[in-house]
Amino acid sequence: MFRKTQVNQDAGKKRAALAALAYVDHGMALGVGTGSTVDFFIDALAEHGHRKLRLVSSSERSTERLGRLGLDVTELSAVGDVDLYVDGADEATNHLHLIKGGGGALTREKIVAGAARKFVCIVDRSKLVGRLGAFPLPVEVIPMARSFVARQLVKAGGQPVWRKDFVTDNGNQIIDVRNLEIANPVEMETRLNQIPGVVTVGLFAHRGADVLLIGTDDGVEVMT
Ligand code: 5RP
Repeated sequence: MFRKTQVNQDAGKKRAALAALAYVDHGMALGVGTGSTVDFFIDALAEHGHRKLRLVSSSERSTERLGRLGLDVTELSAVGDVDLYVDGADEATNHLHLIKGGGGALTREKIVAGAARKFVCIVDRSKLVGRLGAFPLPVEVIPMARSFVARQLVKAGGQPVWRKDFVTDNGNQIIDVRNLEIANPVEMETRLNQIPGVVTVGLFAHRGADVLLIGTDDGVEVMT
């Protein structure tokens, strides 16, 4: 049963990733996200041989995979605005609000998403939810602030769990917040962003996706 579900999810991820190729034009500045869905996208990008792309990566993991496939990465500062950003998500709503950061790359992902003219989010059907928050919300914190931030997250109604033995690409730590009532994702993102010591909240509501590509059992649904 588990294996069948996993296979279906992977098929959905791959369908969504391949559909994202249609948004890629030669010569564009392309932001590349992080995760297993994006891995399918990176592989497809290498296979289809898009030329003259200026690639910006959202993590060391994606940079490494791109490099292995012969795709060089450019610094965001050297590129300026990004034409297109392609990334996955842990949860997505039909308002195109997202929870991201399951892979711990949320800060760089939020930076590249913020710099992007268009954000295409690629997910399998299991990621689509009516309300965000069943997936624990990742929050990247400055290490010295971890306990302080955790106490503030309790006041916000969540149950913070330190992601032990994990250090982000920026040298910080992650708190995963369970059971948070996210009735209004924009407000919650604003509220948690105010806590001193918080680097990034894994809510992508102020800057959600522009297009959601949902890989299903037999195709790809597009939400805009
Ligand atoms: C990494 C992310 C990923 O996009 C998210 O965790 C989804 O990953 P996957 O495609 O492996 O399900 O936000 O920080």
